[in-house]
Amino acid sequence: MTRVRVADASTFDDGSRAVVTLNGHEVAVVNHDGEYYAILNRCAHDGGPLDEGEVHGRLVATVTEPGERDVERFCDDPSVTCPLHGWEYDLETGVHVGDEGIRLPTFEVVKENGELYVTDGEM
Ligand code: FES
Repeated sequence: MTRVRVADASTFDDGSRAVVTLNGHEVAVVNHDGEYYAILNRCAHDGGPLDEGEVHGRLVATVTEPGERDVERFCDDPSVTCPLHGWEYDLETGVHVGDEGIRLPTFEVVKENGELYVTDGEM
């Protein structure tokens, strides 16, 4: 298992973000409403930096045709919107909101002795 230190948990408040390198890949780490999330920091569309994206309640919508969707509501599950062209990902699962066939890797964030770490969870 590989793990990388993110920050002192006492200073990583709601809204905090960080980027760490795990196994050679950038990972965006977010504190949203006191919960920690970690997702690959590279949008599947064109590599946009998700650490710079807006975090909000996940969009619930019906895709009517590729690139088109009817917005139904926003739910409490957080998502992040890529700042470049607006692709949106569920922060928990990494799944694209409008296309379940697109998914970014997500990672576990653990707190140990007051420090936050991102881990690949393997081994
Ligand atoms: S690079 Fe993320 S939506 Fe285009």
